[in-house]
Amino acid sequence: MLDLHQAVHTLLTDNTQTVDHWQYTVPSATSYPYQWFWDSCFHAIMWSHFDALRAQAELDALVFRQHEDGFIGHVIYWQPGEILSIDWGIPHTSSLIQPPILAYAIWRTFAVSQDTNWLATIYPAAAAFYSYILRERDVRDVHLYGLVNPDESGEDNAPKFDTALGLPPQHNAKENTERRYALFDAHRQCNYNAMCTSEHFWVEDVAYNTYLVWNLDVLSDIAYTLGHKKDANRWREAATDTKTAMRKQMFHQGKYVSLSGRAATPVSTDGWDQFLPLLAGLYTQSEAHQLVHTHLLDKNRYWLHYGVPTVAPTDPAYTPDEPEWGEAWQHPDWRGAIWMVPHWCIYHGLRRYGFTTEAEMIRDKSIALIAQQGFRENYHPHTGIGMGAEGFTWGGLTIDMQPTTPTSLSD
Ligand code: GLC
Repeated sequence: MLDLHQAVHTLLTDNTQTVDHWQYTVPSATSYPYQWFWDSCFHAIMWSHFDALRAQAELDALVFRQHEDGFIGHVIYWQPGEILSIDWGIPHTSSLIQPPILAYAIWRTFAVSQDTNWLATIYPAAAAFYSYILRERDVRDVHLYGLVNPDESGEDNAPKFDTALGLPPQHNAKENTERRYALFDAHRQCNYNAMCTSEHFWVEDVAYNTYLVWNLDVLSDIAYTLGHKKDANRWREAATDTKTAMRKQMFHQGKYVSLSGRAATPVSTDGWDQFLPLLAGLYTQSEAHQLVHTHLLDKNRYWLHYGVPTVAPTDPAYTPDEPEWGEAWQHPDWRGAIWMVPHWCIYHGLRRYGFTTEAEMIRDKSIALIAQQGFRENYHPHTGIGMGAEGFTWGGLTIDMQPTTPTSLSD
């Protein structure tokens, strides 16, 4: 039988890198041998189950490469010569962002360590990071924050970005990757100014904005804990403004949808992130009931035997198979495969609204996939076969699928 705690501890330990006195965890030693932004936030959450100091170290390393304007890259290169094959144009990190889970990761770490000195030491970096997002990524000035490259969502080639990339629902992975690479160039030529890059690509993503409001609320709680009342109010207001804007502009027919391009056209993809706003409490109880019963529990779309697919099998973009082209890291599949971060998010979203049985089923399905296939990057929704990177850390989040896990400090 799988000893989950032991297996996760071994995986995190095996994937730990030490450079001077810095320590971080790589998502997969073979496919992703660098430090990645949101992965590190999840690693800190996982480490907090074993070793609060190691969780602190993970986040300390993450903010160490912060730029003066508050930006933190989605990939951080610690060893000389590590630059993937992309010319980002800036030293040590990529030029893109990733989902802003930092405040929540800090809070979860602090919840275990209770080390107020550490909290006070890392807070300025977090404050600078969220200020950067609020300042740089609201190009329409509507309190909705946008992405200049699909990779910034952490769901690299999800079909919700197809329209903005000018691609049809079915296209080959090579074409997709080429467009994303062209955007790296555009961003560099725009000197990393999102207003300029948004002429090439712009998506106000439901998932990104949900992670943001959820984390701004947590950041407000952190600021309050440290006695920074003015900051606490500022973060709370920013969260409220975005929640209001999401409701006004993204809420269509009972669910939240992403907006594509500077014209903010609603995206029609039937994707898993319609469930993500449950995590931040953005649906009313009756909307949540309707969403879960009509969409999540639909056996043809989301309630599949092995878990919840990232895209519904009935959507024209659904492509769950592993592409045959290129290296594994070049075509992460967010077009149907089951990934553990969405499972973790949906688990906690369901719990927040009292869907305990359904949440436990997602947890059980997640653990079953790991027991049968090991810690893989993602899993085929119809066969349960593990795909993509091996020794991939996200399955470690199953130890954090527990009824007692708080989604925010005020819970
Ligand atoms: C893939 C995922 C991305 C993750 C990275 C490292 O590119 O799509 O979200 O951060 O792998 O694990």
